[in-house]
Amino acid sequence: MCKCVEFYRFNALIFRTYCAIMKNIKLYFMAIKMEAKKFIPVASPALIGNEKKYVLDCLKTNWISSTGKYVNLFERKFSEYIGVKHAITCSNGTVALHLALLALDIKNGDEVMCPTLTYIATANSILYVGAKPIFVDCQQDTWNIDPDKIEGKITKKTKAIIVVHLYGNACDMEAIIKIAKRHGLYIIEDSAEALGSKYLPADRQGKEKMCGSFGDIATFSFFGNKVITSGEGGMVVTNNDEFAKKVALLKNQGMDTNKRYWHPVLGYNYRLTNVQSAIGLAQLENVKKFIAKRRQIAKMYSHYLKNIEGITLPTEKDYTFHSYWMYCILIEKEYGVDRDRLMGLLEKQGIQTRPFFYPIHTMPAYQSLHHYGLDVSKEISRKGINLPTFYNLGEDQIKYIAHQLVRLKKDIIKNKQGAEYIIKSVDSGDEKKLASFFKVIKKHNLHNFFHPHPFNLKTAKKIIEISESDKSDLYYLVLDKNEQIAGYFMLRGFDEGYSVPSFAIVVHPDYMNRGIGKQVTIVAIKICERLKIGKMMLKVYEDNIVAQKMYRSLNFTFSKSDKKDELVGRLNIR
Ligand SMILES: Cc1ncc(COP(=O)(O)O)c(C=O)c1O
Repeated sequence: MCKCVEFYRFNALIFRTYCAIMKNIKLYFMAIKMEAKKFIPVASPALIGNEKKYVLDCLKTNWISSTGKYVNLFERKFSEYIGVKHAITCSNGTVALHLALLALDIKNGDEVMCPTLTYIATANSILYVGAKPIFVDCQQDTWNIDPDKIEGKITKKTKAIIVVHLYGNACDMEAIIKIAKRHGLYIIEDSAEALGSKYLPADRQGKEKMCGSFGDIATFSFFGNKVITSGEGGMVVTNNDEFAKKVALLKNQGMDTNKRYWHPVLGYNYRLTNVQSAIGLAQLENVKKFIAKRRQIAKMYSHYLKNIEGITLPTEKDYTFHSYWMYCILIEKEYGVDRDRLMGLLEKQGIQTRPFFYPIHTMPAYQSLHHYGLDVSKEISRKGINLPTFYNLGEDQIKYIAHQLVRLKKDIIKNKQGAEYIIKSVDSGDEKKLASFFKVIKKHNLHNFFHPHPFNLKTAKKIIEISESDKSDLYYLVLDKNEQIAGYFMLRGFDEGYSVPSFAIVVHPDYMNRGIGKQVTIVAIKICERLKIGKMMLKVYEDNIVAQKMYRSLNFTFSKSDKKDELVGRLNIR
């Protein structure tokens, strides 16, 4: 009996211990899950060294403006790290580019080559000096300026090439240097995103050099999301004494160094403060650690994402050492959802991402310039995402991000297969609900999904009015199972210019690629049958292959429209 009680006690003890352990394990996993679930920003600085100490020193010693020991120290240590003769601090990476172009005497009437797939500052700096940017396409794999596409765009006016080591991936410098030498052009390296990136020229046999040490002049940025930061800040580096002197003069209001308040040239106040330099210096002391961590992050991402169909991983050529300022992926058609919708879904899971830069030649300030041959950049820009990449990003967070990318793809496929929508004829009661839907459409600057004409609230209201007064236009809402508006479609009794009934579908961004198109088209055909309408037509962008395929499966035939990039689809119903 006694033994029995003891046995029981022993078992109870084991059981209690077991429960406590399990509870802790559960809590532990919950904590991991919660930790990972917290908002993950795309970038975040790591102030892990002497930042506070050096800043306090500035405050204690009263050296808080743009002279002081930290400015000099930051410049010296930076030039040593890059392996160049001169480094000159300035207020940010944009003005660094402006100073670089001024130092090279690039001016009105000159042309400067640069990639179109880059941050806006690269091209803006060319406009600042009155020169003309000539945009060059990027390579399909590195996303950097394509050396094979530079020479065809060189003219007598070309003075320089600005190369950008995009997202930390070094450009093919050897090929670019050869072209520049052949045509007597300057090279400016916009290394804003490439601190710590290296390039290994074939003829240097094992001796790699830092990005920023190849060009006639190079620039860096220390914005808060960069490899190292000084809050805001920039640096110009060069081996050329004349250029260095000119940059130092221009950034300091063009003031003569031997004669105070005498300004022989038009200058600028582009100085960096001692306090900012103090932070920059402290950051620079840890640069190797930062780069090592970024490369480790990239390795983990590449490992966890390697087998997801429809995700293209970044390329690191054997002649480069990638700093992975940003870990980037491309979202291909095979993933099943377009890039923008995926970013929205990730955001809902607490994961912040960034789209790739828009090609600069498509921006309003640049549209009037003559452009050609930039298709690769357009494609890459449309597909690219920057994933969170920063020093304190943990492996559990990377796993969580990768898990979400796998899960969302699975959900999208499942939803596509099982999609079933409620289709509801519009009455005036729906107008309020509809207004909020159109706000989303407007916010995302969406055009009709299958129909290439812009759509806005005004036109939507007009359609409602027409649909209520004139039954030749029919207007329907598409609701999901939870009665959320997933889209709408419209059947127009008579399309001007084509004299047959037409229809258009608009899909909410959250519902793209989830089977609405097909289901709605089938319903629309049925409505036409019921109304004894014998023909239907629609318009679709020429490159919208997915939509064309779907319509063809429902017996639509396509021909060229009178508008560029547009096809007309026709269906004989009876
Ligand atoms: C390629 C490139 N050039 C220039 C800049 C401009 O740097 P800043 O923001 O410091 O002016 C950036 C900034 O992100 C950049 O990415």
